[in-house]
Amino acid sequence: MIQVAVLGYGTVGSGVVEVIEKNKEEINKRAAEELNIKYILDLRDFPGDPYEDKVIHDFNTIIEDPDIKIICETMGGLKPAYEFTKQALLKGISVCTSNKELVAAHGPELIRIAKENTCNYLFEASVGGGIPIIRPLNYSLTAEKIDSIMGILNGTTNYILTKMERENASFEDVLKEAQDKGYAERNPEADIEGHDACRKIAILSSLMAEKTMRYENVYTEGISKITLDDFKYAAKMERTIKLLGISREENGKYFAMVAPFLIPKTHPMAMVNGVFNAIFVHGNMLDDSMYYGRGAGKLPTASAVVSDVVDAARHVGKIIKCFWDEEEVAMKDIKTAEFKYFVRCDGSLHEEALGFFEQVSIVDANVSGEIGFVTAPMSEEEFEKKAAKLGIISRIRLMD
Ligand code: HSE
Repeated sequence: MIQVAVLGYGTVGSGVVEVIEKNKEEINKRAAEELNIKYILDLRDFPGDPYEDKVIHDFNTIIEDPDIKIICETMGGLKPAYEFTKQALLKGISVCTSNKELVAAHGPELIRIAKENTCNYLFEASVGGGIPIIRPLNYSLTAEKIDSIMGILNGTTNYILTKMERENASFEDVLKEAQDKGYAERNPEADIEGHDACRKIAILSSLMAEKTMRYENVYTEGISKITLDDFKYAAKMERTIKLLGISREENGKYFAMVAPFLIPKTHPMAMVNGVFNAIFVHGNMLDDSMYYGRGAGKLPTASAVVSDVVDAARHVGKIIKCFWDEEEVAMKDIKTAEFKYFVRCDGSLHEEALGFFEQVSIVDANVSGEIGFVTAPMSEEEFEKKAAKLGIISRIRLMD
C-alpha cells in the first residue's frame, strides 16, 4: 500500500480525495498498488466530512511519517507550499502539484532537488486543468523539436469572454459565476489580468526550451479592458476575442506574450468556449497538434493531480525524466514583434487616423462617437509611437 498525504483541502484538494475514492479500482490497478490517503493537511477542521479523521494541522506529522511516499500539494501560493515541497523532496517523497505559481517560480529547482533525492516533482495539473499537456510534452513529443506553443490557458477568462459574446452579459456577473463554479483563483485579478495564463505559458515555454523562461519576462495583458463594444466590432470582422498565451523560438531566442487577440471565427481556437482550454503545439516533424479539455474546476484538475500520483506510484525509487534546466532562455524584445492592430479612437480623429496609419481598413459597428479600424502589420514599437501621438481609446492585436 502506498500512503499519500494531501496538502490543502480546498477545491482541488477535496477533488483529489474524491477522485481517488470514486475511481479506486481503476487507479489502484494502474498504480499497481493500493493508494491510501493517510493525512489531509489544512488549517481548518471539517466536522461532518467523511474524511474529518484524516485532517491534521501540523506538516511535521506528514514529513516525519516514513510511510508517506507521495504528497499532493493543492494549497496554491508560494508560502508555505515552497518550503513544504522542498522538505518533502529532500526526504525522497514525491510531490504532485496543481500549483502553477510555485512551478513557474521554482519549478527547475524543485525538479533538481527531486532528482537528487530519487523522487519526482510532477505538475500535470499546473497547466490546462484536466488536459494532459505536460506529459505529452515530456513523454510523447520526444521525437520533435518544438518551436511554438499557443493556447487558451485560463478557464475563468475564457468563460467570461464567451458569456460576454454570447449573452451580452456584464463582466462582473460572469466573473461571479466563474468564482461560484470554482474556476477562479482566490484573487481573481490573477485570472483577469492574465497573470495565471502568463505563468502557464512560461511553464510550457520552459518545457519547450528545456531551460527556464521566467514568467516575469513574459509581456502580459489581461481582459479587464475588453468591453461589449469590442465584441460588436469583432462580430463585424467575423472574429472573436480570446486571451491567448503565445510563445515561439526564433533563432535561439524566445518570444512570449499573453494578451487578448481578435481571431477569425474559423480559427480552431475560436471554437474553444466556456471553461475549456486548448493548447496548440507545433513540432518540426509533426506540425500542429492540439490538446483540448476543461481548463479549470475541481474534478478535472484533481484528475490531473491523481494521474501524477499514479505515475509517482509507478516510479517509487525511480526518476521520471523532465528536461527543464535552471539556466534562463534568451528572450526577444516584444517591441520587435509585428501585428495588425484593431484600433478605436474618437470619431473626430478620423482624418488624422488615416494619415497616421497606412492601409487602414475601417470597421463600422455603429458605436456612436468613435471609429474603429485595422492597421497594416507593424512592430509594437512603431504602433505604440503612432497610437500615443493620435490618442486612442483602445487596441486589440489581430491573429490570423
Ligand atoms: N483560475 C484558473 C483558470 C484555474 O481559470 O484557468 C486553473 O488553473
